[in-house]
Formats: sequence, structure tokens, C-alpha cells
Amino acid sequence: MVEVLEQMYEGKAKKIFRTSDPRLFMVDYKDDATAFNGLKKGTIKGKGYYNNQISAIFFKYLAEKGIPNHFVELTGERSMLVKDLEIIQVEVVARNIVAGSLAKRIGKPEGTKLPFPILEFYYKSDELGDPMINKYHIKALELATEAEMEEIAKISFKVNELLCERLAPLNIELVDFKLEFGRHQGKVLLGDEISPDTCRFWDTGTHEKLDKDRFRRDLGKVEEAYEEVLRRLTGGNKNV
Ligand code: TMP
Ligand code: ASP
Repeated sequence: MVEVLEQMYEGKAKKIFRTSDPRLFMVDYKDDATAFNGLKKGTIKGKGYYNNQISAIFFKYLAEKGIPNHFVELTGERSMLVKDLEIIQVEVVARNIVAGSLAKRIGKPEGTKLPFPILEFYYKSDELGDPMINKYHIKALELATEAEMEEIAKISFKVNELLCERLAPLNIELVDFKLEFGRHQGKVLLGDEISPDTCRFWDTGTHEKLDKDRFRRDLGKVEEAYEEVLRRLTGGNKNV
């Protein structure tokens, strides 16, 4: 058993603690919610619990399907043990359906299906408000090498396929999502979280939003949406 030591970092949605094993960190998921680079602040009751459990389910599933990631094990209702990563300062957004910032950028209505999945890259910088960048910026800024970005793109498309497959039988459409990666023992590894904070999930039949857009856009029933995603993933059985 690893022992949890001092807090190393506190982000908008998670706290990271050192542990007695220098190669492992403990992530504690918070109920705090922010949007628009921290301009909108609030609390979503139970979000820490839901995001921790949902991320664990996705990370375990992806590992089984050959996508190694930083998840090691759940350590509590809202905490998990993860491998240490040297975080690559690029946020990768994969999209299947037009929504959010893409709808604004290209002037197409939300819900327009893209002919094939696309990727976007953002510079992970709160100070700059996470601006969109391309592979040339990434290379010039030395955020990642060309080879690392090829690997990241390959993994991101595969994750998209696998998550769509996992969610389709649950009547959830994966509209878009954000991934983060890091370096671990010379390899690129998937990190961060995969949750309603970082994905857009729509009910396939009704197109009801089951994600953080309910908080961003003041749609109500925010906690219920997070709970519903976990309920569908576990079939109501919390010990799955
Ligand atoms: P966007 O349409 O606002 O660019 O968001 C695309 C996806 O990325 C969406 O699933 C939500 C996720 N996302 C984050 O995880 N963190 C962020 O800071 C933002 C802006 C979006
Ligand atoms: N997580 C981001 C923030 O607070 C934005 C978002 O998810 O919409 O700023």
C-alpha cells in the first residue's frame, strides 16, 4: 500500500498528491466546476465522485483494448492512483459532431455530423486561455516532437473509436472530447481524465446533454447528468 504524502498541485477540478512511491501520484477529484477559463465558478454536488468513477471505467476499458494510460487503481470514492507523467502542454480535442467552439468557428449548427472524426490542438496555458495551435506551432515551441504528435494523433483516433463503441449500446453519442498526454519512461501515455467535464455526451434518441454543458449553459439537472452517465456505464451496479 502506498502512503499519501503532501499535496503537490491543485488545479481547477483536481488535486494531486505525492505518495510514498515516487513514480505514483494520487489524484483527488473535486466538486468545484469552472468554465470559460475559470470565469464561471460553481459546485456540482458529487462531481468528484462521478468523474473519478467514470474516468476509472474508461481508463480500465482502454487499457484492456491496448491503449496504455496513467490509471493504476481507485483508492477511494473520489481518488485514484496514477503513474507520474511529464505532461505534454497540448490539449487534444477529437470531434465527431459539430458543437461548442467549432460551431462558432465554422458557422455550422450544433449537431451537424462531421464526415469523419477530426482533431484539434490547444496550447495548455491558463494564462493565454488555451489558444488553438497547429502541429507547426507545437514543433516550433518544442511542446512535443513530430514523432510524439504522430503517436498522439494515432492514439486519439483509436480512443475515439473505442469510446464510441463502448457508449453506443448505452445510447450515448460521443460528440467530442479532450485528451491530455504525458511522457512516461520514454513513451507517450494517455493521462488526465475522461469524464462529463471533458467530453460532450448526448443521449442518442433525445439529444439531451449529459455533460458539463449543462453547467456551462445553465441548463439545470447538472448532477443528474453526471449520475446518469455513471449509471449507464455500470448498468446501475456501482461495483462493476
Ligand atoms: P469546445 O467545443 O469548447 O472547444 O470543447 C471541446 C471539447 O473539449 C468538449 O468536449 C469539452 C472539452 N473541453 C475541456 O475538456 N476543457 C476545456 O477547457 C474546454 C474549453 C473544453
Ligand atoms: N475547464 C475549463 C475552465 O474552467 C473550461 C471548460 O471546461 O469549459 O476554464
